[in-house]
Amino acid sequence: MSTVIVVGVQWGDEGKGKIVDILARDADIIVRFGGGNNAGHTLLVGEERTVLHLIPSGVLHQGKICVIANGVVVDPEVLVSELTALRARGYLTDDACLKISDEAHLIMPYHKAIDLARERLRGKGEIGTTGRGIGPTYEDKMARTGIRFVDLLEEGTFREKLERNLEEKNIYLRSILKEPGMEFAAIYDAYRRHGDLLRRYVSDTALYLQEGIDAGRRILFEGAQGTMLDVDHGTYPYVTSSNTVSGAVCAGAGVGPGSFQSVVGICKAYTTRVGNGPFPTEERGPIGERLRESGDEFGATTGRPRRCGWFDAVLVRQAARLNGLTGIALTKLDVLTGMDPLRICTGYRAGGQRFARVPASTRVLEAVVPEYEEMPGWTTPLSAARTLAELPVNARRYVARLEELTATPITMISVGAEREETILI
Ligand code: GDP
Ligand code: IMO
Ligand code: MG
Repeated sequence: MSTVIVVGVQWGDEGKGKIVDILARDADIIVRFGGGNNAGHTLLVGEERTVLHLIPSGVLHQGKICVIANGVVVDPEVLVSELTALRARGYLTDDACLKISDEAHLIMPYHKAIDLARERLRGKGEIGTTGRGIGPTYEDKMARTGIRFVDLLEEGTFREKLERNLEEKNIYLRSILKEPGMEFAAIYDAYRRHGDLLRRYVSDTALYLQEGIDAGRRILFEGAQGTMLDVDHGTYPYVTSSNTVSGAVCAGAGVGPGSFQSVVGICKAYTTRVGNGPFPTEERGPIGERLRESGDEFGATTGRPRRCGWFDAVLVRQAARLNGLTGIALTKLDVLTGMDPLRICTGYRAGGQRFARVPASTRVLEAVVPEYEEMPGWTTPLSAARTLAELPVNARRYVARLEELTATPITMISVGAEREETILI
């Protein structure tokens, strides 16, 4: 059995795309099991930069099977354009290499309109969503009014469900959100067209994956977002609308819990967050600016500048526990070159109390003051290192300290955005 789950352990954008692309070399099947095109996973191969929003990050290896499982919410227009762009570059030219679950839910135009309008109404209290309609789509899924691929492909069913949904959404849009309503015909025609283009990829992916597991095929499950964006375990309500922890893979791909071998947490050597919400180690001054510039910390989906700060060991230790991590891939260590001293958050304090875990209360988390320990930095660039021994001693000490504080072995270190710029331990 060779099944690996990859998850982000901070607030997303940890470098999941890069690591999955590397691990995909040794996999047969790569699976997205949650989130939607709020995700932006970047792959850098040679001069070519690819940002994937829905298609799994194994796609640049020819012959691998990419699966979009039932837990993903799919904007078919985004999927069609991503697919078209990849096919134009010679990827996924074999239709058998992409599989989409017939149970995956569709993001509809009204979901995007509702997402954006609600954010506007929240004003300063906005979540800072990606505006891709993710929350409203998961709401409909849970309300049992959502539209799935299987419904899209059944003429009568799609018409009926769209009519019923649109009637209700238009009342909500017009009366509550003060937005214009939407026309049935335009949505119906566009979605039928998308359905016709995507029909050939749609099937029972849970069954396909189980058969793959039974046949000993190597399967890589690619998480989206990060643990602190999980709707149950993250910094609620400043989270996404799905479960992003490793456990979500069972429901999101339809595979039993006994089927998984290892869980790799992708973790930046510092911390970033895009969107609003508490961020204890955020640096709003020159240090944050320095990390943003050197780390090129701008959103892969929305282009927004990412908020940046020091490594938070409280948060990563908690994520290691929640995900049952068997190892960490530490990314962007190169970005810290030249910063001295380096700081690591080892605890929080608020109101005379010390916290060794992330408090559930937003108010408390916003008020906490991080406790830091300092470590000496290094000045030698890291991107040429391919073994641990080639790293400057202070970089090795920093990595060893993170390993200690997070109680998780660091099994990979990424020292640049390129595929090759990686140390396997
Ligand atoms: P994801 O959402 O977790 O896949 O991460 P993103 O792609 O949104 O953001 C990670 C960014 O960091 C991308 O621009 C990557 O190309 C880049 N990146 C990944 N690993 C490294 C690394 O080790 N060093 C540097 N400098 N950049 C990296
Ligand atoms: P990847 O997979 C970083 C954030 C948004 C916002 C919150 C809710 O690239 O790591 P949503 O649109 O999901 O309702 O927004 O979640 N968010 C992400 N931040 N990386 C992501 O994905 C994200 N997906 C959602 O910025 O704060
Ligand atoms: Mg991203």
